[in-house]
Amino acid sequence: MDKIIINGGVPLRGTVEVGGMKNAALPIIYACVLIEDKCIIENIPNVRDVSLSLDILRDMGASVKTINKSTVEIDCTGVRQGTSKVEQVQKIRASYYLLGSELGRFGKAHVAYPGGCDFGGRPIDQHIKGFETLGGVVNTESGHVDVTTENGPVGANIFFDVVTVGATINVMLAAVLAEGTTVIDNAAREPHIVDLANFLNTCGAKITGAGTDVIKIKGVNKLHGCTYAIIPDMIEAGTFMVAAAATGGCVKITNVIPKHLESVSVKLEEAGATVDEFDDAVVVTGRSIVRKTNLKTHPYPGFPTDMQPQMAVLLCLANGVSYVSEGVYEKRFRYVEELIKMGATIKVDGRTAVIEGGKELSGAPVIAVDLRAGVAMVIAGLVAQGTTEISDIHLIERGYDDVVGKLRSLGAEIKRVSAPDPEESELIKKAN
Ligand code: UD1
Repeated sequence: MDKIIINGGVPLRGTVEVGGMKNAALPIIYACVLIEDKCIIENIPNVRDVSLSLDILRDMGASVKTINKSTVEIDCTGVRQGTSKVEQVQKIRASYYLLGSELGRFGKAHVAYPGGCDFGGRPIDQHIKGFETLGGVVNTESGHVDVTTENGPVGANIFFDVVTVGATINVMLAAVLAEGTTVIDNAAREPHIVDLANFLNTCGAKITGAGTDVIKIKGVNKLHGCTYAIIPDMIEAGTFMVAAAATGGCVKITNVIPKHLESVSVKLEEAGATVDEFDDAVVVTGRSIVRKTNLKTHPYPGFPTDMQPQMAVLLCLANGVSYVSEGVYEKRFRYVEELIKMGATIKVDGRTAVIEGGKELSGAPVIAVDLRAGVAMVIAGLVAQGTTEISDIHLIERGYDDVVGKLRSLGAEIKRVSAPDPEESELIKKAN
């Protein structure tokens, strides 16, 4: 029942530091299952999906120690295969990386179907195809994915029918300790795939080609522990960039890799903002007029689907009609209904949202329907006149570390409140 409350209309100004990338930290955490040794992971973001993943490993027998706010030591020597708890695994999408890790280390895997944000169907057929190509026999009855092999996975050539981050990562995890060489063709090229490969290579793996669409993995017998720092979160950075532009402010966003932000920078400039790049920072300056802009989401290096809802908010302010097309997921416009409550004029036609700009947004009670949609509501609240109250904020906290504190340090009038549970209040009322 916790909420974020925002009094909008304040241009953001100042400097904000971005944390480690959630979508890199998660596969790296699950990759630790492959390693019977200590791994020290630095620049870990303090977000719910990460703490839940660490809990999953801890409950499976891993030793997980917090060294400081952004560093953990993980030793998976004691992990027991197939023991992940269904109710934990179902809370999070990334738990499916346990499939690749268990298969890689133990030659078999048993994990419940994953959860995660609802963007329509999220099939795992390419993961299954990958495991089968490596010699696995896959059974998906009774809400679990079971993979068995005779003597562990065996290297092979895999061609993915769609570009998928999740399946690329899962096959990498299953193949690092396999006998022989695996080649993944039509692989995803996201920076977090490169980060996972760099982490595994630091532990003794032999992976080449990560960041291109052909990844080669030469199986090794064993991996060893290491100390590794996660790359900065390009989606958190992109979110602050859009917030700066939308509020007509000026924000320096530090601890970023500007190359990873290029597609967002280009679209912001098309929309009239200025983006100045430095070695590990960008400065975004918004303008009073936002230009109408079209965009379509694609796998990296295209415009990220995880930045689509935030950009849609900016385009609500534009001087004309913008077309936003979703090229990755079939249903990622559930937030549109919430924006309409704030005065936006948006029509969704299949995979395209037609946004009629130039309407002033006004504060309203809205819901965070998923992680990125939720943070888009935060940006909408920052630009809207009046007060916006966002509920279901646990979804935002899955992927953003202290977004409220960071925005407040940039001048936003924003607070997080713990609202009493209505059932509990009712009970208290009755008791009195
Ligand atoms: C991951 C990210 C998510 C991000 C997305 C795209 C995590 C935990 N999640 O999700 O934040 O939005 O990448 O950058 O890191 N597909 C299939 N069959 C499969 C697998 C995927 O058809 O077996 C399709 C999906 O339905 C989707 C597309 O491929 O249309 C991309 O999916 P994928 O890249 O795997 O994304 P996720 O791993 O779900």
